[in-house]
Amino acid sequence: MRIIMLALFARGARALSAVPAAARRLQKIKELESKHASLVASGAKPAVIRNARKELGRLKRMPPPVDGVESAVATFYGFFAVEEPSVVVARLRAALEEDGLVLGSVSVASEGYNGALAVPVERRTRLAQTLSNAAPELWPTEEDAIKALNWDAQPTRSSPFHRLLVKEKKRALVDGFEEPLDWDDCGAEVPPEAWHDEIAQPGATVLDVRNTYESDAGSFAGATPLNTSTFVESWPRLDEALADVSRDEPVHMFCTGGVRCVKAGAYVKQKLGFTDVRRLEHGVVAYERWAAGSGESRFEGENFVFDKRVDAVEAPVMSDEDLEARPP
Ligand SMILES: *[C@@H]1O[C@H](CO)[C@@H](O)[C@H](O)[C@H]1NC(C)=O
Repeated sequence: MRIIMLALFARGARALSAVPAAARRLQKIKELESKHASLVASGAKPAVIRNARKELGRLKRMPPPVDGVESAVATFYGFFAVEEPSVVVARLRAALEEDGLVLGSVSVASEGYNGALAVPVERRTRLAQTLSNAAPELWPTEEDAIKALNWDAQPTRSSPFHRLLVKEKKRALVDGFEEPLDWDDCGAEVPPEAWHDEIAQPGATVLDVRNTYESDAGSFAGATPLNTSTFVESWPRLDEALADVSRDEPVHMFCTGGVRCVKAGAYVKQKLGFTDVRRLEHGVVAYERWAAGSGESRFEGENFVFDKRVDAVEAPVMSDEDLEARPP
């Protein structure tokens, strides 16, 4: 009897250690969530419910465990009409949950989608496959998913995200507008190499469409920061930053992965009447990849990304709300 139990235990332990800590943690969070829900449903004592909620909260706030499994982080977005976001969300969520090693968040809205996901490095190609299989409305072919995935130049020690959230949202990126603008009319994308030359032209107008804590960590030499703490504060700041710029002069703008510049570019074109808006293609992340290959860079300091914040011992951990308010 004892021998059998030992054998079972050994097998269980081996199976457990083969699963990366980030995935185990996700599993644990799910367990605690359903424990909490069933305590609430069964009318347990308030103190018992409170304790269960606290335990769940603690786990969610904890930095993700270091696995020795390197994570690759990709952001991605697309703006076009999505017919039934809730249907797409259900399929995408099921596929990513089944994969089991994907953490991060994806928002799908009728205006498009926006997300950031982390996977163990060797799973990169598989992610594109999973995405296009699950949601051909967003990525008709695997090739489309490969093109959309904007991978960080460097993998991280472990996943910067705590859990997987796939949600239907009113907007793919919260902007504060009553009515959406035409997101197709948002200016031209400039690849990193051309961007590198263009922003060095004397008198170039270069706007940093990120928040203050990002601009402070590092930026392109000569760029004007918008001094925002969240993206929705951008509009009056763009008015201000461009007040003295002639409407037919080129306006260069950049953000971390490119999604914010779609909306900022549309605003500057459609609301402010600028004719020549140029957005850094795939943002600072793509410029960093280019700079690593070319050995040249006009970016000074650090590109602020979530994983660096999570890595820093004293830094607070990004919550789901933070991710929404401070998009890539
Ligand atoms: C943000 O602050 C910097 C430094 O004070 C300033 O140079 C810049 O013009 C400000 N940006 C805007 C849009 O007002």
